[in-house]
Amino acid sequence: MRRAKISVIGAGNVGATCAHWAASKELGDVVLLDIPDKEGVAQGKALDLFCCAPMERFDANVHGTADYADTANSDVVIVTAGLPRKPGMSRDDLIGTNVKIVRSVAEQVATHSPDAIMILVSNPLDAMVYTAWKASGFPTNQIVGQAGCLDVARYRAFLAMKLGCSVEDISALLLGGHGDDMVPLPRYTSVHGIPIQQLLPEAEITECVERAKVGGGEIVKLMGTSAYYAPASGSVQMAEAIIKDKKRILPCAAYCDSEYGVGGYFVGVPCILGSGGVEKVIEIDLDATERPLMDESISHVKDLVATVKEMFPDLA
Ligand code: APR
Repeated sequence: MRRAKISVIGAGNVGATCAHWAASKELGDVVLLDIPDKEGVAQGKALDLFCCAPMERFDANVHGTADYADTANSDVVIVTAGLPRKPGMSRDDLIGTNVKIVRSVAEQVATHSPDAIMILVSNPLDAMVYTAWKASGFPTNQIVGQAGCLDVARYRAFLAMKLGCSVEDISALLLGGHGDDMVPLPRYTSVHGIPIQQLLPEAEITECVERAKVGGGEIVKLMGTSAYYAPASGSVQMAEAIIKDKKRILPCAAYCDSEYGVGGYFVGVPCILGSGGVEKVIEIDLDATERPLMDESISHVKDLVATVKEMFPDLA
């Protein structure tokens, strides 16, 4: 049986950490690509990581490069290329630079790995997913954005910290855009099946939701650059679901048309992820409090996409 192949575009903090998790989980062979100026960095990190294999006992080749030919026929491509946030910046401030980068990356991916599922991580995520879709010409099931896995993991981590219980037992769901735009869903949050409302007062649940919303910003303030362990972990969780055809239900930025009344945009929704990429968008009932928040989130995604179209008419 052929080993799966995962290419990670961008060998910076998020990209290198994706390569680390993917190799250590033996998801397949890993190619880490960066721009020609940083080829040495990609090669050095790949070599350093491969030298862990005898100790961590994983069988996965890790190759660093600046040549897209080395990424040919990847099963999954994780796109982390682009600028990260600095203190005081919003994700949206990155739009101009990162659209240009992600557009060129997506074109190369489409040429060299036409059947790959592309997982976008670069920010502002909701605009990058649209850009990659347009630039690659891929069908919508092959394009998916990582935001929900991270946001929900942060929410679960903060709830576990409050409850003093294992994160493993917390099951939760969030919808909508990345970060500030997320739609909290305490109604769909439980701790080993026990509704969260029975374990925590509403104010404390809200505190966890609000902290998850700005969780990325909290880390930017502390470190001076954006987070990478958890964003990479979320991306590799998605890659694993695809490569192993696990049919996992994960919150992802996926194309929705009639779903949630979105009308043809990528927004954060629960999806079934398997070898076909986004195999199904799952629609859940939203109540009178949740629906307006979802609408607001969708409207922000639409504004971001409109900005992309205005700045880059060829992507319209
Ligand atoms: N092709 C390939 N790699 C590129 C390109 C390109 N066209 N342009 C930039 N890169 C590379 C950079 O050279 C750098 O090595 O992308 C890498 C980005 O790494 P970091 O600066 O460390 O940024 P990181 O923290 O990894 O964040 C990357 O992910 O979570 C998001 O908001 C974050 O948009 C940011 C992205």
